[in-house]
Amino acid sequence: MRTKVEKLFAYQEDRIIDTIDIINQNLLKTVFIINENKILIGIVSDGDIRRAILKNIPLTEPIKKIMNKNPLVAKIGIPEDEVLNILLKKNIQIIPILDNKRRVVEYYHITDFIKEKYLKKSVREVVDLKETKKILVTGGAGYIGSQLIRILLESGYSVRVLDKLTFGKESVEELLQNPNFELIEGDYTKIEDLIPCLRNVYSIIHLAAIVGDPASKVDPELTEEINFYGVKILAEFCKYYEIDRLIFISTCSVYGASNNELLTEHSPLNPISLYAKTKLKAEKALIELSCEELDVCILRLGTVFGWSYRMRFDLVVNLLTALSIKNKKISIFSSKQWRPFIHVKDVGYAILNVLNQPPENISGQIFNIGKDENNFQIEEIGKIMKNIFSDIKVIQVEDKEDNRSYRVSFKKVNKKLGFVPKYSLEDGIREIADILKKENINFKDMKYSNYKQFQHGIFESIAFFE
Ligand SMILES: NC(=O)c1ccc[n+]([C@@H]2O[C@H](COP(=O)([O-])OP(=O)(O)OC[C@H]3O[C@@H](n4cnc5c(N)ncnc54)[C@H](O)[C@@H]3O)[C@@H](O)[C@H]2O)c1
Repeated sequence: MRTKVEKLFAYQEDRIIDTIDIINQNLLKTVFIINENKILIGIVSDGDIRRAILKNIPLTEPIKKIMNKNPLVAKIGIPEDEVLNILLKKNIQIIPILDNKRRVVEYYHITDFIKEKYLKKSVREVVDLKETKKILVTGGAGYIGSQLIRILLESGYSVRVLDKLTFGKESVEELLQNPNFELIEGDYTKIEDLIPCLRNVYSIIHLAAIVGDPASKVDPELTEEINFYGVKILAEFCKYYEIDRLIFISTCSVYGASNNELLTEHSPLNPISLYAKTKLKAEKALIELSCEELDVCILRLGTVFGWSYRMRFDLVVNLLTALSIKNKKISIFSSKQWRPFIHVKDVGYAILNVLNQPPENISGQIFNIGKDENNFQIEEIGKIMKNIFSDIKVIQVEDKEDNRSYRVSFKKVNKKLGFVPKYSLEDGIREIADILKKENINFKDMKYSNYKQFQHGIFESIAFFE
């Protein structure tokens, strides 16, 4: 139901903290700031509040201090087509409509148009979308995506990838001739890139993100935009475009620092990094939006390993394997900490499993993805490496800064969905080792690391977890 415009009003002298309540209670995440004569003097979005918090502005300050004083507005009587044009061109979601005294009488939100105009005319041309079996994979050219899309194609699905191609398109290039595959270069958070991709799509698998702790810290605001706000917008559009299913790929790092008990989907959450925090916020927003028309399912992955068409050598098992082959020496940090691991192909099979489930098994549900035996203490990984590569030197380094440790239970996905991963850590290590021995690959090349600013010296000795 449309929010009444009066519910979006706050006065310029109201405190920021009071306005947060108004923002949280309306799905539009916006407040119109008015003066005592009810004249519009600014707009505040949840992004403005977030920026104020990041800048340490006290929440007891008046809201006028952080408002956008020059928002885009439209005059009453403006044709709807013109409004839509402004929203799309300026990439904004909401525009207030003013009377001749600059009082807000109405507003338009982008979704008002989606429902009315695009949906009926162009998106639902095909009657039974299940028949088309078309899946949109955001971030499909990445490490997980480039394995997943091949598994989907082999299983008879049609695949459309929307990806910014941050790491290039090499990983999907050979698929471009396949009539069931489509690659669209674009940013899923940009409405004009996203909307054409939703056409005739039956399910969405959302992988696009700024991935990993170090990469997420480079530009925290962008990380929030892509890993959290974008996800909320995506889910809203899913509803308007009558997409049946949204599978969101999250991370077991939302469990963060915990004791060594096996953690289930109901265990307390304690995310430490910005990456994990944004993923958790997105999870919560999605669970709220899950409904009869849109099945939302959240999959929490452990740290992924194994070979892929867009390779990552910034993930712990992959990096340690490369260092074992190339340097004959590995450093093991935080050796007593627990982490779950999963092979990249098993991630693809898990997603396929969820895609094929009836709604009642997955809708509004969170699943840890993996198997209990694939929880390891970091020092055990060192031992496994030493068993496979007997000629390497393993150096133990204590890392006091990183206090994350989590052992995860995978009973729910094993029992409820019948999903059990096939590959062991050894399988993944041997497969990468074989390729590195055969091919001339510079694993230190920045294209294999999500944190591009890393210098080679540092990169050599640090392994990451997701
Ligand atoms: N790899 C892991 O160990 C791991 C573990 C847990 C969860 N995950 C999750 O799995 C997903 C994929 O991770 P990955 O390892 O394949 O990472 P990746 O960095 O290899 O892939 C991410 C892809 O998303 C694309 N992308 C980023 N922002 C985009 C945007 N705004 N619009 C369109 N495309 C965009 C990038 O170009 C890239 O191709 C992420 O959501 C990540 O949080 C990964």
